[in-house]
Amino acid sequence: MSRSREPRTLSRRATLKCGVASAILWPTCLQASAASREELSFVIVTDTHLGYRDQDSAAKLWQKTATEINQSPGNLVLHLGDIVDGGREEQYPIYLESRRLIQKPVHEIPGNHDPEDLFRKHIRENPSTVVEHGWLRLLLLNNARRDSHDGFLSAEQLTWLESQCGQAERDDRFVCLCMHVPAHPNRHPDRGWYVKPEHGHNEFNELLRRFQTRIVTVMHGHFHNGIRGWNDRHGVHEICFPSALYNLDRGLEKQSAPGFNPLEFRAGYTLVTLRDGAMKLQYKPTASELSVEKECVIGKTT
Ligand SMILES: [Fe+2]
Repeated sequence: MSRSREPRTLSRRATLKCGVASAILWPTCLQASAASREELSFVIVTDTHLGYRDQDSAAKLWQKTATEINQSPGNLVLHLGDIVDGGREEQYPIYLESRRLIQKPVHEIPGNHDPEDLFRKHIRENPSTVVEHGWLRLLLLNNARRDSHDGFLSAEQLTWLESQCGQAERDDRFVCLCMHVPAHPNRHPDRGWYVKPEHGHNEFNELLRRFQTRIVTVMHGHFHNGIRGWNDRHGVHEICFPSALYNLDRGLEKQSAPGFNPLEFRAGYTLVTLRDGAMKLQYKPTASELSVEKECVIGKTT
C-alpha cells in the first residue's frame, strides 16, 4: 500500500449526519459528505500500447505524454492498463524509462495486453493494491485476461473488494475502483466488452448497490473511445478513459447509445478533480490545449 497524502480532519457533524441518514438519503448524503472534503486531483492515463505495430511511435508519444503529465496538476497518476501492446516484454523497460520523467507517484493495473507474470516482474508484484489519496481510497485490481476482451472478476477478487469497501465504510473513506475492462454492460454500437453474467456481473452489481454510499466511481481503460461512461447504476459513475495512443469515434451519441461520450478522440490523458461534491474530468490531448470537460455529480444518477 502506498500513501500519497494523509487524510484531512473530517467534518464530524457531516460524518455523523451521514452515518445516521445514509440508508434513506444516500444521494444527498454522499454528495454532501463528499462536498465537505478537501479538493483532490489526479491524472488518468491508459492504453499506451508500447510496441504497437512493431513501431516506436507509441513509445515516442508516451515520452511526450509523460513529460506533460509531469507538468500537469494532480498529485498522482493512474495507468489503467495495456501498458504494452501484445505482451511485448522488451517494451516494459522503455515504458519505465519515460515513466521516470513523472515526478509523482504512478500506479498501474494490467490490461488484456499485459501478461500478469510480466506485470508482476516489471511493474508491481501484486496487481491488486490499495492507494490512499486523501479521503479517497483507490482499489486497483486486474480484471483482464490475455485471451479475451471481456472482464473477469473471480470469487476471490469480489471478496477482496467487499472487504475493502467495508473497511472504507468503517474508516469513513470514499472509494474509487480501477480495473481495465468495464463492468457496465454495453452492446452494439459499443464494443460489447464487459464483465458478463458468468464472470461476476451480478455479484459486482450487488457490490455497487450495497456500497453505493461509498463508491464514487469505477474507472477503466480498454475502449479507446475518448471519455465513454455511464451513470445509471446506483449513482456510481462508471467511466472508460481515453487511450494515450489512439481513440476512435464510434458515433455513440449520434446513435443514442446509453450513457455519454463527448466528441473528442485525440490521443491524450485526463485530469480528474473532486471538489464541491462533483468530479470534473478534463480531457487533455497530448501536445494540445485542454479540450472537453465532463462534470459528474457525486452520488447522483443523471
Ligand atoms: Fe485493452
